[in-house]
Amino acid sequence: MPHDPALPLRPETLAITSGYDPASAWGAAKPPVYLTSTFVYESAEQAKAIHEAYFRGTGPMAGQPAYIYARLSHPNLAMLETRLAAIDGAERAAVFASGMAAHSAIAIQHLRPGDSVLHSRPIYGGTEGLYNQLMPRFGATALPILDGCDGDHIRAQAERALAHGPLALIVIETPANPTAAITDIALVVAIADEVGARTGRRPLVVCDNTFLAPFAQRPIALGVDLNMTSLTKYCGGHSDLLSGGISGRAGLIEPLLQLRTVLGTHCDPFTCWLVLRSLESVAVRSERAMANALTVATFLRDHPKVAGVTYLGFLAEGTPQRAVVDRQCSGFGSTFSLHLHGGEAQAFALLDHLHLVKQAVSLGGSETLACHSATTTHYNVPAADRAAGGITDGTIRLSVGIEHPDDLIADFAQALEHV
Ligand SMILES: Cc1ncc(COP(=O)(O)O)c(C=O)c1O
Repeated sequence: MPHDPALPLRPETLAITSGYDPASAWGAAKPPVYLTSTFVYESAEQAKAIHEAYFRGTGPMAGQPAYIYARLSHPNLAMLETRLAAIDGAERAAVFASGMAAHSAIAIQHLRPGDSVLHSRPIYGGTEGLYNQLMPRFGATALPILDGCDGDHIRAQAERALAHGPLALIVIETPANPTAAITDIALVVAIADEVGARTGRRPLVVCDNTFLAPFAQRPIALGVDLNMTSLTKYCGGHSDLLSGGISGRAGLIEPLLQLRTVLGTHCDPFTCWLVLRSLESVAVRSERAMANALTVATFLRDHPKVAGVTYLGFLAEGTPQRAVVDRQCSGFGSTFSLHLHGGEAQAFALLDHLHLVKQAVSLGGSETLACHSATTTHYNVPAADRAAGGITDGTIRLSVGIEHPDDLIADFAQALEHV
């Protein structure tokens, strides 16, 4: 019996139920992978109608599911986009070949020569490069937000950005990679509204929600225009795929879908199938990883060789950051940084003596990963910008997985003896 639509389902349930109807595939409990690059038309007349619907949104096939060529869309992509939109509480979603393909589509769609963009800092190194190295070649100027909880600072940076040209985008990543720095999402949305009311052009607010996965932070409900997620991380969850999603209002997602067709950055059928499947367990995986992270972060914070741990749960009561986390997040995440006394030599000594914990970039997988931020993920970020973002030469980023926490503690304890 179909679900009674009068009883709304929670996102954790939608992560399992939405996007796929077994009746569409012989009752198969789980979806098939549609490994095809092209789709056969019933007739030339139907082909014309399908193309009219795709390009103009009119004609007898308008609004009906129909596929043309897998770069435009395919059934596994449609299933995943439906599920991602349902989980994020958005009207529509677009899924790309990677998180950076998703970020790039937003930048290309919304920036024009002369425009300015504000972005939180620190921010993932690839996004930093997109806005500070690539987009300036097309005439757009980027400025950083260094304290995402300070309204005066954000307003001042918006003024500086407006001095360069219309403010088209405010891109925030919260918690941020790698230090888990916090940006107040509702505050940024309010400032975007103020800029819009004053200048006649409201900047779009984009939130990269990769770090807390879809359940511990709900950017769409907080008013952002586009919610971006690297599905490679917690949503994929097993360090075996690359994918990126954007959710938001249909009117903002549809142009991104058209752009994706031109760029050729759609997500392939098998990867979509893997992400659809992984979304079913992201809630429970995240819960376990977050519980482990609290245990590991507590051990590291209390160790004499560790100068500090930027774990969200340790933010001091009474600080603006703590107030924002308490208001905006329902979990503290499982990716954070530890800062060792000393610099690169001490960090490398720790990393090279870890046995269970693997040295690798990326995060959100079932296994615990560690990397030295300054020489890996943020290698290409100028040293002064890294320092401004709180990344020292003794900073190591940890993505805590779902192993037994005692084994993780034992590994860190023995490795720290070599520092
Ligand atoms: C916060 C954040 N956003 C975006 C990306 C880019 O995602 P992808 O590697 O899927 O392109 C990453 C990658 O590490 C990230 O950490």
